[in-house]
Amino acid sequence: MNTLCVPSGPESIQTAADLLRRGQVVAFPTETVYGLGADALNDAAVRAIFTAKERPADNPLIVHVAEQGQLEGLCHVTDTAKKLMDAYWPGPLTLLLMKTSRVPDVTTAGLPSVAVRCPRHPVALALLRACKVPIAAPSANRSGRPSPTTAAHVYEDMQGRIPMILDGGNCQVGVESTVVDLTGDIPCVLRPGAITPQDIAAVAGNCTVASSVMRPLKEGERAPSPGMKHRHYAPRAKMTVLVGPDENVTAEMIRRYDAAENAVILAHDSLLPAFGPRRAFGLGNSPRESAHLLFQRLREMDETGCTLILAQGWEAQGEGLAVMNRMARAAAFDIVEL
Ligand code: TXA
Ligand code: MG
Repeated sequence: MNTLCVPSGPESIQTAADLLRRGQVVAFPTETVYGLGADALNDAAVRAIFTAKERPADNPLIVHVAEQGQLEGLCHVTDTAKKLMDAYWPGPLTLLLMKTSRVPDVTTAGLPSVAVRCPRHPVALALLRACKVPIAAPSANRSGRPSPTTAAHVYEDMQGRIPMILDGGNCQVGVESTVVDLTGDIPCVLRPGAITPQDIAAVAGNCTVASSVMRPLKEGERAPSPGMKHRHYAPRAKMTVLVGPDENVTAEMIRRYDAAENAVILAHDSLLPAFGPRRAFGLGNSPRESAHLLFQRLREMDETGCTLILAQGWEAQGEGLAVMNRMARAAAFDIVEL
């Protein structure tokens, strides 16, 4: 199959919408990462997403809608859900709600709940409005690769597997949406993102964070979200995350870099001058900037053929929690506190 990568505009968005309505798979930009979309209510179309992505069938998809009203008949909207949608939609917040029988089992991997989100990227919204069906979309990477934040990343992973990629430039947020489970008494964050647990508590009155957000699952432990048990965001190189005062991180990175054969450094921009001629990549100067850059940097570092990535982390709270959740998984939880 020939994969067309087309700049987004009124015409290409209409073409993509027509493909979606005919049951095809199309990649499109959102404010978080690129998504691999298909008609969420079309069984065969959703199966085609799993095939293109090589995604395990037990990992459910997020259903994207153009507005709150499109949820009617798809899921049971609770009072808390309504408040959160009013506050943060369109935006990088995914809600887990109980589904109706209209949502096919392939979309939710047989679960009784469905993940729903209204993205705020203008191209995503225009596409949702043009195709008039809810779009099931995981991140548009092949399983186990970092999520794509540019159309070029999508092309790398999906070339020959899908008919069309809508190119809407760089994704602003850079990490996937916050996933919050609203099927229990208290909202529970299963995957942290740009909307923080504090943001959710401010509207819902309360919010917890699943313990598996910052630690590996124990042997035999059931994952609260199937995505958590699968291998994630893994660079080809071994990765170690270092956290602590800047001076300690700098010194330890230099020590480990010089002792290794083929290492690269990924550090906050303010530290870069300290590394001299060593190969070092910048990760911005705030958790928000790091979120925007992380997946792109993981791909760039992989391309150097390095065997060790020494990465500087953030404190795992607020917006730093989303960055550390992805870094921890990329590093297989090899995190060193200095
Ligand atoms: O920002 C995003 O959310 C992007 C863009 C494209 O919208 N999408 C995305 O989808 O990251 P995906 O499939 O890569 O991640 C969805 C996560 C997975 O960890 C999945 O297991 C979880 O949400 N999830 C989806 N439906 C669920 C359900 N019914 N119960 C529990 N977890 C669910
Ligand atoms: Mg994904």
